[in-house]
Amino acid sequence: MNNLMVQMSINNCDGTKVANHYNEVADVYDQRYDENLGKFYYHHISRSVMERFPKGGRLLDLGCGTGLFVRHYVNEGGEAVGIDISRGMIGKASDKCGSSNFTLGTAEVLPFRDDSFDAVSSLLSFSYMKFPEKTLSETYRVLRPGSPIAICTLGRNLFTRGLPALYHISEAMNLKKACFGAFGERYYSVEEMEQLFFDAGFIDVQVKRCSFAHYNLARPIYDIAKKMEPFVERNIPYLAYNICASGRKPVDEGIEPW
Ligand SMILES: C[S@@+](CC[C@H](N)C(=O)[O-])C[C@H]1O[C@@H](n2cnc3c(N)ncnc32)[C@H](O)[C@@H]1O
Repeated sequence: MNNLMVQMSINNCDGTKVANHYNEVADVYDQRYDENLGKFYYHHISRSVMERFPKGGRLLDLGCGTGLFVRHYVNEGGEAVGIDISRGMIGKASDKCGSSNFTLGTAEVLPFRDDSFDAVSSLLSFSYMKFPEKTLSETYRVLRPGSPIAICTLGRNLFTRGLPALYHISEAMNLKKACFGAFGERYYSVEEMEQLFFDAGFIDVQVKRCSFAHYNLARPIYDIAKKMEPFVERNIPYLAYNICASGRKPVDEGIEPW
């Protein structure tokens, strides 16, 4: 795709505001997850995605940002390609992960060939996508038969229900550098996410909630939340605020039932 077509597809998916925001925060983005509590938090969600994938193979990371998950995947022995609508985030990713390819564009229109990836991931990005059905049908198209998709993004629960209002307030107060903004994100319930995956044609669909300890909590509260995290995820999952969904493209659409 040439530059003009890329920009048109980003505009069409209504991603300009999101892209501008991430262009602005690209330089400071990694500070959230590369240090202290953010590091534990990111490790937790990236492990829940990684455990869905076989070792090695060629990964596509949707909304790859600065390449945090791409780096993780490559360190585990795989090969990875990232796509993101923010030029700033892609620039950072290319600086950090020189051996991987990064493409500017929207996950809703993937500029890749059919059946060309062994796995597709997306971390903390899916909620921004205005046309999740398109993202999933495009993912289905580019995955090799039998290959997995795994995503982790904010789900809808007691805590996240209030986030859109909080984001509107923080935007009004111009707290952009803190990575807040009102972007009309969609937070999914387990049932909604399952339905999206089934409708796209995936099989072996599993959706669960994860994350109870948020890196923005004060240290003593975080430590308690972290201790409770396994219990909450197992027994009161509604309190966990991320949602991890996975599935697999059937090997033979004609034979394998879902
Ligand atoms: C919170 S960041 C997550 C980045 C990275 N996945 C990570 O785990 O650190 C969200 C990213 O999603 C990207 N994004 C949002 N909507 C997108 C879309 N429709 N297609 C591709 N990327 C998108 C943003 O530009 C941003 O880099």
